Amino acid sequence: MISNKIDQGLKGSPKIPGDKSISHRSVIIPSIANGKTEVKNILKSEDVVHTINAFKNMGVEIIENNENMIINGKGLNSLKEPKSEIYLGNSGTSARLLTGLLSTQKFNSSITGDKSLSSRPMMRIVKPLSAMDAKIQTTNGSLPIKINGQNLKSKDIEIKIPSAQIKSGIILAALNTDGKTRIIENSVTRDHTEIMLESFGADINTYLENSKKIIEINGKKEFNSNKIDVPNDLSSSAFFIIAALINENSKLKLNDININPTRNGILIALEKMNANISYSNKRKINNEEVCDIEVETSNLNGCELDSSIAKLMIDEYPILSIAATFASSPSVFRGLNELRVKESDRLELIKINLLKCGVKCEVKDDNLFIYPSNKYRINDKNITTNYDHRIAMAFAVLGTRIGPLKICDSESIRTSFPTFVSEFNSIGGKVF
Ligand code: S3P
Repeated sequence: MISNKIDQGLKGSPKIPGDKSISHRSVIIPSIANGKTEVKNILKSEDVVHTINAFKNMGVEIIENNENMIINGKGLNSLKEPKSEIYLGNSGTSARLLTGLLSTQKFNSSITGDKSLSSRPMMRIVKPLSAMDAKIQTTNGSLPIKINGQNLKSKDIEIKIPSAQIKSGIILAALNTDGKTRIIENSVTRDHTEIMLESFGADINTYLENSKKIIEINGKKEFNSNKIDVPNDLSSSAFFIIAALINENSKLKLNDININPTRNGILIALEKMNANISYSNKRKINNEEVCDIEVETSNLNGCELDSSIAKLMIDEYPILSIAATFASSPSVFRGLNELRVKESDRLELIKINLLKCGVKCEVKDDNLFIYPSNKYRINDKNITTNYDHRIAMAFAVLGTRIGPLKICDSESIRTSFPTFVSEFNSIGGKVF
């Protein structure tokens, strides 16, 4: 894919697709609820389609009609032994959440994934599940894994790595485990699983204890179906927001965007950078905060972000780095070690690709430093993405200012935002 420099500003109201995290949960939770759930505006990207196929493979009736779906759930123990291994492509969220769910089923299963997913760490979810007596064999700590489904023991589980995927995998295991499981979360991570389960009437309770979040689940309690309207994805919006901020004469309106406070770090960071962003029509849909966002060209300044905000915006560092590239002063983003175990080593790829584009930057320990300049001289226009969708889209946005850039292996964008190119071009982008 080539991303060219644009000559006029970006204008309009692109359609941002449904939130990826909520879409996965909109398949998983209704599949183990009782009754018919109607889901609207689900993201039909490759990652979510892998989750949908996994549940079809386990006998769940799912009727699809473009972005809408009806799922006929039959309860916590209704899943059938899959006829074949469960292949989850590139989707880390599906892999971690399904490992938790499948560890309590009355059948054995195996999970596989593509090359990138097969190199990502699975012990982070296997270890706490093993403490509950789960029987899971990994391949050197990664996929493929084999799960011997059985009854687990409820326990107190402290989550050491800040990760909503780990937390959600354990919640899904706890739902089908006798007794009370208490999950102790040391730092806040996205809480879509808790919100959706509460709205389905599951026996889940969250509270603070010594400033740590406790999630208490009374297992083996069935819950009923509910309607779901998936809000649009803030992580996907971020590529458009920053494209508008860094290009002259730009103004965009993005509608129905999820601004869940456990996910809104990018908006806090951009406010610190003096971004001209306004919010209207704030409301709650299925207990998720939603609003419309207007964004205009802005004179950004650099900023220093400490590690505490990283959990609230872990997926947004690639695109935030592009904003920092056009700020009037340097930026430093601290505490980014988790970026190394995403769809690629994102910390390394941000650095390598910014350097290719002539942007001075460095990584020291797990901190990223970016030193912007008025003019960039491209050393190598071939952007390495290692099939990482967010690296591809972030550097496509950089192309609007300094392109043409060749974004290699950009087909990965299909995993989260299949309509990215057409929406980007509809507002004046030049991506082909
Ligand atoms: C996700 C959680 C995050 C995020 C991922 C989606 C989720 O991962 O990076 O894109 O839906 O729970 P971690 O929980 O591993 O940080």
